[in-house]
Amino acid sequence: VVTRTPLIAGNWKMNLDHLQAVAFVQKLHWTLKDAKFEAGAVEVAVFPPFTNIRSVQTLIDADKIPFSLGAQDVSAHESGAYTGEISGLFLHKLKCGYVIIGHSERREYHNETDEIVAAKVKAAIKHSLVPVICVGETAEDLEKHGASAVPVAQLRVALDGVDPKADIVVAYEPVWAIGSGQAATPTQAQDVCKALRGVIAETLGDEAASRTRVLYGGSVKANNIASFMREPDVDGALVGGASLVVDEFAAIARFP
Ligand code: G3P
Repeated sequence: VVTRTPLIAGNWKMNLDHLQAVAFVQKLHWTLKDAKFEAGAVEVAVFPPFTNIRSVQTLIDADKIPFSLGAQDVSAHESGAYTGEISGLFLHKLKCGYVIIGHSERREYHNETDEIVAAKVKAAIKHSLVPVICVGETAEDLEKHGASAVPVAQLRVALDGVDPKADIVVAYEPVWAIGSGQAATPTQAQDVCKALRGVIAETLGDEAASRTRVLYGGSVKANNIASFMREPDVDGALVGGASLVVDEFAAIARFP
């Protein structure tokens, strides 16, 4: 039996400047330390804006803070004339371990298609970054096609041609649940996460499906995390708003 280490990931979106970021990570570390948080049983990851990554990484290194670090996006290209883009190579050199790809806000405001997401997933893997591949249906999709059809179709494209040995994370974020205060029910999350694990099995094989973490995201708070974590196919959470409040995010990380 493969055990998957739960992953509690904080997507800060466009919040906290680099000074606030350093203060936040320090405070989060102290809070979890005081609570005798056992690093290893749960993996905690933070995803600050690009401009904070160097500062946060320096702090993590200096204070030996057991948090993982990731970026919120990556270019599909490696280098060259792509004004404003950030290469996976640069992120890897800054010791980022993860990168969020295909967040619904990128899909909506930056017109990221499934094909762009797929190219970014490959670029991330090429530079030894673990892609956190986000999929999810809108309220309209939910009404028309049910919960899993759109996320399943999105993930199929994102995983096409990916090396079955690659380390990936999948995040199911129903768009209607993001920032709305209206989270999916644990049963809804379980059903879609299970279907997504089925897509991983189909595209990358059973071994990848059993080791890959599938997260739920969308209005996760300290008072609902445990109910999601009880579901067999939910291996953690991608947290937005609640990841910006030290005590709340620490409480989410201490769900067990
Ligand atoms: O990526 C996480 C996010 O989209 C969920 O946001 O604020 O509903 O936790 P929130």
